[in-house]
Amino acid sequence: MISNLKFESKNEKDTMLFAEKFAKSISAPCVILLKGDLGAGKTHFVKGFVKGLKSKETVTSPTFTIMNIYDKGKYPVYHFDLYRLSSSEEAEELGFDDYFNHDSLDGISVVEWPENAPELVKNFDVEIIFTKIKNDDCRLIEINRRILC
Ligand SMILES: Nc1ncnc2c1ncn2[C@@H]1O[C@H](COP(=O)(O)OP(=O)(O)OP(=O)(O)O)[C@@H](O)[C@H]1O
Ligand SMILES: [Mg+2]
Repeated sequence: MISNLKFESKNEKDTMLFAEKFAKSISAPCVILLKGDLGAGKTHFVKGFVKGLKSKETVTSPTFTIMNIYDKGKYPVYHFDLYRLSSSEEAEELGFDDYFNHDSLDGISVVEWPENAPELVKNFDVEIIFTKIKNDDCRLIEINRRILC
């Protein structure tokens, strides 16, 4: 694992712009984990990410649907929020395995609350950690790209 990028975001727009630029460095298939507390900015990051892939679709939190698909951009984006799941088995029963396996994944899976299904997401490519710092509107965003041997 190599920690190779840290960014200090000053507000939500900053986070979205950063995600928009980051999206241009990603190609499919790719599994991206988004880690951080409630309200840390994970969903706002996905808003910018989808825009960076040249899609005009509106990103909303998949809290209740568990997964939303944005397929009008350069690659399909599978946006997961596993907050309400309690195990990898539950995620597998819902048929999500294929979105986390490079052989079957045709797009980019971005996952909020991956901690709730560690087995499911174990072959991830990038981990992004969001931390609230300094004041209400500041976030530290750390991007760790994984080099698989
Ligand atoms: N620098 C920032 N980056 C992103 N969001 C920010 C920032 N500063 C303040 N915010 C606010 O924090 C909140 C982030 O909400 P968001 O839904 O993106 O969080 P989340 O990490 O997805 O939370 P959850 O775990 O509940 O899904 C929003 O209300 C946003 O306006
Ligand atoms: Mg969210």
